[in-house]
Amino acid sequence: MSHDGKIIAGVLAPHPPHLVYASNPPQNEPRSEGGWEVLRWGYERLQKSILAKKPDVLLVHSPHWMTTVGHHVLGLPHFKGLSVDPIFPHLFRFHYDLKIDVELSTLIHEEGQKSGLIMKVMKNPDFRIDYGAITSCYLANPAFDIPVVCISSNNSPYYFSNEVGQQQMERLGEATARAIARSGKRAVLLASNSMSHRHFTSEPEIPEDMSKEHIYHHGQYLWDMEILKLMREGRSRELVDCLPEFMDMALAEVKAGALTWMLSSLGFPSYPAEVHAYGSVIGTGNAVVEWDHWTHAQGEVKVSEVRA
Ligand SMILES: [Fe+2]
Repeated sequence: MSHDGKIIAGVLAPHPPHLVYASNPPQNEPRSEGGWEVLRWGYERLQKSILAKKPDVLLVHSPHWMTTVGHHVLGLPHFKGLSVDPIFPHLFRFHYDLKIDVELSTLIHEEGQKSGLIMKVMKNPDFRIDYGAITSCYLANPAFDIPVVCISSNNSPYYFSNEVGQQQMERLGEATARAIARSGKRAVLLASNSMSHRHFTSEPEIPEDMSKEHIYHHGQYLWDMEILKLMREGRSRELVDCLPEFMDMALAEVKAGALTWMLSSLGFPSYPAEVHAYGSVIGTGNAVVEWDHWTHAQGEVKVSEVRA
C-alpha cells in the first residue's frame, strides 16, 4: 500500500432533498417541474471542478446518520435500497445503489481508534442509508461511479455541548486525513450541511413554487453572509471558533459536525474557498462551497496573494 494519498478538495455540500426532487433523476419516484436552479447550477459547477481532478473516492459526513455512541463507517462493499426522507416522503423516495470503499472505511476506523475515538464499522447488509448522504453524493456525482465512504455524526454536541462536539470532529478529521494518506487515494470530502436552519412549517401547494421561496428572516441571512465571508477570505480557524455561536443563533446544521470534520481534515486552510452558489430551501440557508485543496495545498497560497 502506498502512503501518498491526497485530499484533492473539501466541499460544503448541503443536502435539501428538494434539490434531488427538482432534478428529476430516474432513481427518485416523485416528479417535479424544477425549482432551486441557482443551487443546482452551483452544484453543476462543483461537479465540473471536482470530477476533472479524477477522485478515487468521495467521503461524506451526514447529520442524518446520527449515532449515539461513537463514529460509525459503512463496512460492506455494496448497499442497495430505498431511502425515504421522513419529513418529505412526497419529495424524496430514492432507489440507491452505492459502492463503498471498505478499505478506506477500515483505515478511518483504525486511525480514529488510535486517536482515542470510539469507532465502529457498520456491517448490517439491510442498513438504510440516510437521505443526507445520498443527496450530497448524488449532487456531487450524479453517475454514482466513484466509491464512497459514509461517516455517521456522533451525538456529542447534543448530549454535551457544541464545543465538545467540535473537539470530537477535529480529531475525527485528523484521523480521516491520516487514513487517506495511508490509502494512496485521491479523495474529495463532502460536508453534508446546510447553514442557517430556521425553516417554514407549511409548504406551498406546489413545493417547487419559487414565488414562495426566500430566506427565513434577515438575521439568518446576515449570519450566513458572515460565515461565507470567513470562508471566502480563507479564515477557517476563525470560522471554526465562530461556529458554536452560529449553531445557537441560526440553528445551523453545522452543529452535527461535518464542516468542522472537513476543515480539520484539510488542516484548517488559509486559502480562499470558492462559493459556487447560495440559496434558500424552505427558508434555510444553503451554500455550495469548494476548497480547492489540490491547487492551493501545493504551496498554501494565502488570500492576499490570490487577490493581489
Ligand atoms: Fe438536514
